[in-house]
Amino acid sequence: MKVLVTGGIGYIGSHTCIAMIEAGIEPIILDNLSNSKLAVLDRIETLTSIRPVFYQGDVRDQDKLDLIFSEHEISSVIHFAGLKSVGESVAKPLEYFDNNVNGSLVLARSMRKAGVKSIVFSSSATVYGDPKVVPISENSPTGATTNPYGRSKYIVEQCFSDLFAAEPLWSITLLRYFNPVGAHPSGLIGEDPQGMPNNLMPFIAQVAVGRRDFLAVFGDDYDTVDGTGVRDYIHVMDVAAGHIAALKIVGEKAGLHIYNLGTGQGRSVLEMLDAFSLACGKTLPYQILPRRAGDIAQCWASTEKAQQELDWHATRTLNEMAADTWNWQSKNPQGYSDC
Ligand SMILES: NC(=O)c1ccc[n+]([C@@H]2O[C@H](COP(=O)([O-])OP(=O)(O)OC[C@H]3O[C@@H](n4cnc5c(N)ncnc54)[C@H](O)[C@@H]3O)[C@@H](O)[C@H]2O)c1
Repeated sequence: MKVLVTGGIGYIGSHTCIAMIEAGIEPIILDNLSNSKLAVLDRIETLTSIRPVFYQGDVRDQDKLDLIFSEHEISSVIHFAGLKSVGESVAKPLEYFDNNVNGSLVLARSMRKAGVKSIVFSSSATVYGDPKVVPISENSPTGATTNPYGRSKYIVEQCFSDLFAAEPLWSITLLRYFNPVGAHPSGLIGEDPQGMPNNLMPFIAQVAVGRRDFLAVFGDDYDTVDGTGVRDYIHVMDVAAGHIAALKIVGEKAGLHIYNLGTGQGRSVLEMLDAFSLACGKTLPYQILPRRAGDIAQCWASTEKAQQELDWHATRTLNEMAADTWNWQSKNPQGYSDC
């Protein structure tokens, strides 16, 4: 089984490609390298002894997509390619809508032309906005997003839902990730943000390795266990396994399938910091700063639907997430720039 993986050498894509190869699924990767390095392909080869077919190109380039579909008998697509920084999306909304929304439409058109009607899309818990109730189930209201990035994910979900309503032979799976963190246990692949990290875990990792002076904690007066923000952190290897389950179980069934990928457990910023300090064996400096506009107090997933229908649940602990991130970061202090 061949699966086109857009954005396949990015953070989640690279871990998922390894899981695919291990599951006997052949990834065909398309990536424009806007947030990734070719060295990832070497690392995938080292870990699996297989070098995936790679196309350098943009998901908005329909000719390129048409070529890929004509050169390979592809049965499904996993669509990771997109821009993902909330802060940057506020400054560059047009770029975000063009890449994330237009890219998804071009891809869907090319798929239809090629007769490929199975897609797994990287959505996000941001589509739920500021939830009134936790845990958040797949039926919770969506759309009250707080930034252009979140809106771009919500809009793509709407486009795909309308496509399914019009053409019910499609199999469309929307995976709403909570907060993927961690790295492959080998330490060979991991998250390598360019510039200032947007997310907590890579930020802590860069403090631990000496690239940043301290962790900025935005707000300690939320109504949470210790006043800091609470999120549902999930190991990227569990996220990768969720894609394999989705491909195998619903990837060939016509339908609009929607699942949360989370652990079902909320963890605060300070709990994460403690887990990381334990992993790296040092106390890490942090400073409390004012809350950031648009940040929500807490959010975690209801995981029942994925458990029941995909027979999938996250198995890795917070300590494993911290230990694997530290293993990756300490072996690659400058990320893939060390290669
Ligand atoms: N990491 C998270 O916390 C998180 C949470 C929820 C959803 N997501 C979504 O999951 C997907 C993957 O996230 P990630 O963390 O692996 O991000 P990433 O930036 O590491 O990976 C995205 C990959 O897509 C590529 N890319 C971007 N635009 C492209 C385009 N137009 N054409 C071809 N390739 C393109 C990049 O070079 C990169 O390799 C994204 O769509 C993201 O929005 C991520």
